[in-house]
Amino acid sequence: MVNHQSVNHQSVNHRTVSHQTVSHQTVKHQWWKESIVYQIWPASYKDSNGDGVGDIRGIVDTLDYLKELGIDVIWISPMYDSPQDDMGYDISDYEKIYEKYGTLNDMEDLINESHKRGLKIILDLVINHTSNQHEWFKESRSSKTNPKRDWYIWKPPRYDENGNRQPPNNWGSYFSGSAWTYDQLTDEYYLHLFAESQPDLNWENKLAREAIYKSAILFWLQKGIDGFRIDTAGMYSKVQSFKDVPIIFPDKDFQPCKLYHQHGPRIHEFHKEIYERFIEPFNAITVGEVGHSTREESLKYVSEEAKEMNMMFLFDVVEVGVDSRDRFRYKGYDLIDFKRAFHTQSSFSEGTDAWSTIFIENHDQPRSISRFGNDSPEFRVQSGKALATLQVALTGTEFIYQGQEIGMINLPRSWDIKEYQDINTVNYFRENGSKTGDNEKLMDVINLMARDNARSPIQWNSSSQGGFTSGTPWTRVHDNYEQINVESQLHDPTSMLSFWKQAIRLRKQYKELFVYGRLEILDWENENIFTFLKIDERGNKAYVVINFTAKSVNFVNLLPDKTLTLILSNQSKELSETQLMPYESRIYLVQ
Ligand code: GLC
Ligand code: CA
Repeated sequence: MVNHQSVNHQSVNHRTVSHQTVSHQTVKHQWWKESIVYQIWPASYKDSNGDGVGDIRGIVDTLDYLKELGIDVIWISPMYDSPQDDMGYDISDYEKIYEKYGTLNDMEDLINESHKRGLKIILDLVINHTSNQHEWFKESRSSKTNPKRDWYIWKPPRYDENGNRQPPNNWGSYFSGSAWTYDQLTDEYYLHLFAESQPDLNWENKLAREAIYKSAILFWLQKGIDGFRIDTAGMYSKVQSFKDVPIIFPDKDFQPCKLYHQHGPRIHEFHKEIYERFIEPFNAITVGEVGHSTREESLKYVSEEAKEMNMMFLFDVVEVGVDSRDRFRYKGYDLIDFKRAFHTQSSFSEGTDAWSTIFIENHDQPRSISRFGNDSPEFRVQSGKALATLQVALTGTEFIYQGQEIGMINLPRSWDIKEYQDINTVNYFRENGSKTGDNEKLMDVINLMARDNARSPIQWNSSSQGGFTSGTPWTRVHDNYEQINVESQLHDPTSMLSFWKQAIRLRKQYKELFVYGRLEILDWENENIFTFLKIDERGNKAYVVINFTAKSVNFVNLLPDKTLTLILSNQSKELSETQLMPYESRIYLVQ
């Protein structure tokens, strides 16, 4: 419920706003810019048949729920056939469905049922690598002369001064250890930027590219999907010299190697090829996971003129306080860092023909309330609503991750490392955990940052296993399912879920301000409060103020000469003109 309280001031100040009106390019309106995208990570979403694993039927069963929430587009994380070493980001057949998730028929049903409700479906396009169980790789590894040998990246060993066999260079994998694995069969190493079971495809090979296009892209576009989220989209083109990278972490044998695979020499040629031949003809939409990159580099992918992809994820916000080369080297942050990240992200497309995205959670990130809000029982809901307020007010296409809408939080700190199943976490613990058993500090940072935090099953109701499954869940359900679940929030007007619905409606109602408007931060120096304006092309303004602390703070109206009309509040009580409650958030229209 919103408290309508308007603060009136007689004198209206006619001063012009303090920003220079630089040649303001009119932002082109598009349905996908105004859409709310909801990401589903199938294994933990909803289990329809009691085998403990989420599935496609489970998704179909909840389409009305998503529609009601205000969702326009559903992004499904990989549901393809896969040995699940990296939870489906290791694909063994692009044209088949992972058995436990269902069948091609189920997918067709999902596409139809979604379209019937006006929902669009985008799939995850994982084409930097396949699983080592993919037929292509099996053939490739079978002999040096196999026609598909060159579809992956094979190199002979290097020998050190003692004659010991070593990987071809010092590149490290994102999932710990060397990025190369030795294959005895042909006495060569293959490259895998991620897990050993995720060999990188060789994009230099035209036949490999054509096979990828046909199987991973065309097959699904012809089934009627509406687009793709493009996985690791900046990595396909490797610098072909395969030299050692400079040493960044002297305590490690293998080094982060972005320098030679991120935004490589042919990356834009590849994306233009995909766009021109498949995305544009099918009128599909794409969002790229390009990874950490500068504005200049990013614009090359998403400038409309470039014709490569519609939008991409910028990592500024989710990397606040983190070493982007190793998430578990966590440094911490303050509110000013946080503001700077949002500013970079939100102003990214200003003055260009590009477009941006807003997200604070996904399957690779911990839960936002635990990380940027306060997950204690006292402040969980309030801080969750504050974060939702921030999200709906920002410029770009908005992405929400499953469970975010009910305010799910990180795994309990008391859980043992054995409850963590993500290959990234497991490998990291194996490499960095102390054998003597004192791993408290490491567990603190794992509990804060691990991807597992986003992967616990969705809590649908307060029955056993949170209503996720009638069987034994593949991964442990959070202990708090009785306090946090969909059913209990559906009809409670003060719930997190109701707040999200209301906030999404508001975003759509005032799309010129929130979706398309410009962000101007008003209190850069303030370490407790985040205050900003959203300004649309006609000069209309919204005034957003959020207390990011667990204490009451003084509220100073920074626009004393204007009439402010409250349009969103996360409080159920009458608002104070001089105080903000812990994690209080407000949005006003400015007149
Ligand atoms: C992307 C995915 C992540 C996966 C990796 C390898 O970063 O989001 O989940 O582990 O690619 O495919
Ligand atoms: Ca199932």
